[in-house]
Amino acid sequence: MEEISSAELKASLGTKFVGNEIFVFQNVSSTQDVARELLRQGALEGTVVLAETQSGGRGRFGRNWFSPSGVGIWASVILHPKFQNSANSLRRGIGSDKPIGAGAGLTVVSLTSSVAIANAIRRVTGLRSFVKWPNDVMLHQKKVAGILVEMVGESIIVGVGINVNQEQFPEFLRDSATSLMMESGNEVSRISLIREALHQLEYYYILLKEKGFSPVIEKMRDISSVLGRQVIASFNGKKIIGQAVDVDIDGALLIRIDSGFQVRVLAGNVSIL
Ligand code: BTN
Repeated sequence: MEEISSAELKASLGTKFVGNEIFVFQNVSSTQDVARELLRQGALEGTVVLAETQSGGRGRFGRNWFSPSGVGIWASVILHPKFQNSANSLRRGIGSDKPIGAGAGLTVVSLTSSVAIANAIRRVTGLRSFVKWPNDVMLHQKKVAGILVEMVGESIIVGVGINVNQEQFPEFLRDSATSLMMESGNEVSRISLIREALHQLEYYYILLKEKGFSPVIEKMRDISSVLGRQVIASFNGKKIIGQAVDVDIDGALLIRIDSGFQVRVLAGNVSIL
């Protein structure tokens, strides 16, 4: 098994700030919690926390995130969008003067990070993965990676979970999850993938800050698994069925329902019908 080491990761990483500080742990409750603590201690933008395994890895809506040892990438990246010396900081999109902070802003960061991770997977493995709004990265209709974005004060912690070298999943995940190894038939270097993921996250984060969300939406239209499909979106017990037609500047999924109306969905789960 290839061990993750901070020194090896940092050697010739070549990013501007993501990964300038990398902390690697054997076992933590959740890398998100460790990142929160580092943030409290004044961690710099781009600080990365990685763990071989998590005993309390979590996903969206408080779900557990299965994080077995040595076969995945369980990472959290600290970002300080508003602390940067950029007048526009992290806007929700061109033409919008509402800074990130509301739920909409987090959806934008979640989608942007999903695009970055799908790109990294493609570059390292050649596998064409797709983004399933708002935070899943899919291969052959199964989830290979997930993003959890949490706001702490004015900072953001982007949690990234990638199933890399699992040979199988427990029964309860077998129909919904897959790994890069199961899809490609080859073991994948976690070090190479972490490096590429950090590059892509930085690239898309800077793009988002400097150019807004529009160019990210453009990219996402090419690699979305839901756009153009009949979907069911659910949130807080409400269900909407229709065709997913686009993502707007707030990151909302636009669903055209039977009557022809378009409904904006800003949070929740989407399944393809
Ligand atoms: C989801 O799909 O619901 C999001 C999953 C996010 C999992 C990652 S693993 C690293 C980081 N630490 C956590 O506890 N969660 C995220």
